[in-house]
Amino acid sequence: MSKTIAGFSKLSKSKKIDWIVDTYFSDAEDAKEILKQYWNSNIKLQQLHDEFIENTITNYYLPLGVAPNFLINNKLYTIPMAIEESSVVAAASKAAKFWLERGGFKTKVIATTKIGQVHFIYQGNFEKLKQFFTQVKSKLIDDTEAITRNMKKRGGGIIDIELRDKSSSINNYYQLHASFETLDAMGANFINSCLEQFAKTFKQEALQFALFSKEEKQIDIVMSILSNYVPDCLVRAEVSCPIEDLSENDTISGEDFANKFIQAVNIAEIEPYRAVTHNKGVMNGIDAVVLATGNDFRAVEAGVHAYAARNGSYSSLTHAKIENGIFTFWTELPLALGTVGGLTGLHPLVKLALELLHKPSAKELMQIVAVAGLAQNFAALRSLTTTGIQQGHMKMHLMNILNQFEANDDEKLALTEHFKTNPVTHSAVTEALTKLRSNSEK
Ligand code: MEV
Repeated sequence: MSKTIAGFSKLSKSKKIDWIVDTYFSDAEDAKEILKQYWNSNIKLQQLHDEFIENTITNYYLPLGVAPNFLINNKLYTIPMAIEESSVVAAASKAAKFWLERGGFKTKVIATTKIGQVHFIYQGNFEKLKQFFTQVKSKLIDDTEAITRNMKKRGGGIIDIELRDKSSSINNYYQLHASFETLDAMGANFINSCLEQFAKTFKQEALQFALFSKEEKQIDIVMSILSNYVPDCLVRAEVSCPIEDLSENDTISGEDFANKFIQAVNIAEIEPYRAVTHNKGVMNGIDAVVLATGNDFRAVEAGVHAYAARNGSYSSLTHAKIENGIFTFWTELPLALGTVGGLTGLHPLVKLALELLHKPSAKELMQIVAVAGLAQNFAALRSLTTTGIQQGHMKMHLMNILNQFEANDDEKLALTEHFKTNPVTHSAVTEALTKLRSNSEK
């Protein structure tokens, strides 16, 4: 039975674990052992992980894989990917190799502007609010000097602040809509600190503004927060080649492949049910690199999906065409990423992943991540429109099922051979393993 507890956060780690295992597990010692198995014996490393969040009771591992042979703007990369789903890294590697032989990926950063907003309530005349904003705007910026000094030295900072009238949607609702350049930082802390200072100055100065009535002086700040919708922090990645070069074997011509592939993309462009799955495949690549490089995948996910729905209907993140005999497949994505700050300087594996990527700037990382998404989508569509995905997927899945049954190396070898010519299903694997085990007992 669950029960509540007061002061849990103040307990030591071992007391927290004691309470958890005693309260929720039939075999408390066994549960404790599992939690312990995932601790790191290096005390300093474990402490680092303990302190990333609150109430840490152990570590949760994801595999870190690599996909080599990515040629991006004529530079070779091996891309680190943290992901639990089988086939994703294999698919990325396959797409990388395919395009390596056809000129590689071409990318460019289109824009890097990020947005933050102060949401507030003002009961009064909008013309007066505009006059107040015009008067106070430079002070809003000046008052953030201590926060923006270093960023400005490096060429970033606050780009602009606009006053936005939202009172037709919600009575008396207005915004300070600010844009920022945060260079190699994802910028969440920087932006939020600036916004909170804007809010403070704005509220204080309103009290002194002579044209405001008593009521108008009382500006009510609702909240100050960055937006994870970043349609002006945009990157493009593409691949292209003559259509005849798309054919790898004699089973399908380059032209037939290209046409079918484009049909699949067109379907995702107009059909939201398909678009969501199509984009999920893109995010398989994107999230894995975002996670491996210590970036915020929830922010990226939210921003990317909002962008996919920007025209009022959820649509494909990738596009394809044939023009003058050339097949082109591309994506444009909003990605707010950082290569300094946050986890990037703290988590040893994140540091390693960034070094593996030649210590990229945030702009370079945007391009690498977009490529991982495009490659993943290419691999998925290539399988879906030719062999179907289950064939490859279930072969990989076979290993997961065998591991679940704790198959030994000999059993794995025998069953991998067996399932080269038999369809992999959970029940078929269970049956074959049971048979193998009972035969070896005889
Ligand atoms: C599975 O993780 C991703 C796919 O479903 C993507 C797609 O359908 O395009 C294969």
